[in-house]
Amino acid sequence: MNFHDSERIAGILRNEGYTLTEYPNSADLIIINTCSVREKAEQKFYSELGRFRRLRKKNPSLKIAVAGCIAQQEGVSILKRFDHVDYLIGTRNIGKIQLMLEGKVTPLNIDDDPEYHLRTLPAVRSNRVSAWVSIMYGCDNFCSFCIVPYTRGRERSRDYRDICDEIKRLADEGYKEVTLLGQNVNSYGKGLEDDIDFPGLLCLINDIDGIERIRFVTSHPRDLSERLIDAMEELPKVCEHIHLPIQSGSDKILKLMNRGYNYSEYIARIELLRKKIPDIAITTDIIVGFPGETDNDFMQTLKALKEIEFDGIFAFKYSKRPNTSALKLPGHLQDEVKSERLEEVLVLQDDITSKINRQMEGRVVEVLVEGPSKTDRDKLTGRTRTNKIVIFNNDKLLEGILVNTLIIKGNRHSLYGILS
Ligand code: 5AD
Ligand code: SF4
Repeated sequence: MNFHDSERIAGILRNEGYTLTEYPNSADLIIINTCSVREKAEQKFYSELGRFRRLRKKNPSLKIAVAGCIAQQEGVSILKRFDHVDYLIGTRNIGKIQLMLEGKVTPLNIDDDPEYHLRTLPAVRSNRVSAWVSIMYGCDNFCSFCIVPYTRGRERSRDYRDICDEIKRLADEGYKEVTLLGQNVNSYGKGLEDDIDFPGLLCLINDIDGIERIRFVTSHPRDLSERLIDAMEELPKVCEHIHLPIQSGSDKILKLMNRGYNYSEYIARIELLRKKIPDIAITTDIIVGFPGETDNDFMQTLKALKEIEFDGIFAFKYSKRPNTSALKLPGHLQDEVKSERLEEVLVLQDDITSKINRQMEGRVVEVLVEGPSKTDRDKLTGRTRTNKIVIFNNDKLLEGILVNTLIIKGNRHSLYGILS
């Protein structure tokens, strides 16, 4: 979501005549788009901001703006604490950037713009094959650890006509794949006057010529309806992959997290997904060291990973976030305990992912070619419908084309293939 916001900030400024530079030294304007989902991201921002102070000393006409979740959360205190920051742009104020730079609105823009979801903003996209498309903003779930409802505000869905028009334009420009973005895509449509829900939206996008693949993130397990699973099964362009954050395997912790499901309900969703879409890849998010997590609770998470065998996971140490209700829970754990648990989770999952990827050896899979591999420029890279990276030899550029590859080696992070 933040990455795509950056693409849109770049899109707005390109229309104003700005060009992007990779080198901060040669920039007239630096916009730092920030994330505050975990403390580590915040720390990164503050150290980066310190580096930019030196640049500003060298070049006093350089303008510096802070955008995104930290700007939203900290507001005017950033302008007060850091005299080299000129502008603040909150998560729902991107569209005002040019007015702000022209001095037509104040340098502090963090109000909740209730019309934000009605706007389609331009974007400079980093990938020429696969595009992100926001379908909704904000979140009403208030998981007890999560800052998103406070930084991104209440849940609002975009009009389906605007979404489809944007995707049709992307198809005309040659994009083959779209990833629909929202904090909780399953609740798309809530509050709209039109009678449309997320499976209905998928149906409409499936009919857009030129788009070959549809992905979406993120789904909340509580709201994953059978209707959505049926749509995934029936609509040919919807890819066989779902990112379904479980967070913990312990019912006690899930309750404290205010997730709205227990482990057996989560498993029931997984079973239905695997029954209806046998080849589906399932990935998840895990938080270790949530307040009150005992050894036994943690064992439940390890057990869940072994039982479910996810294709991949993102695992994080619980991080204290301002405003969130988990802050006040008893039993906050020491960092060493969290680090040990994180390590254990990652080691276990590495084995599981390696095993699953090895099982791909000998299979022929469809790959959407994205371009040269970052690690080996002589090779091409792309993704399977199940969102696994495939690297393969080819001297002809096939960017944006669907090819079949035979997988000859399955590693932890990627698959190696040959054209078949
Ligand atoms: N601490 C650790 N991880 C967090 N996440 C969200 N908030 C926190 C937090 N306070 C993780 C969750 C979520 C993912 C995007 O980030 O796992 O699914
Ligand atoms: Fe945060 Fe929960 Fe909303 Fe996801 S569903 S953005 S974890 S509050």
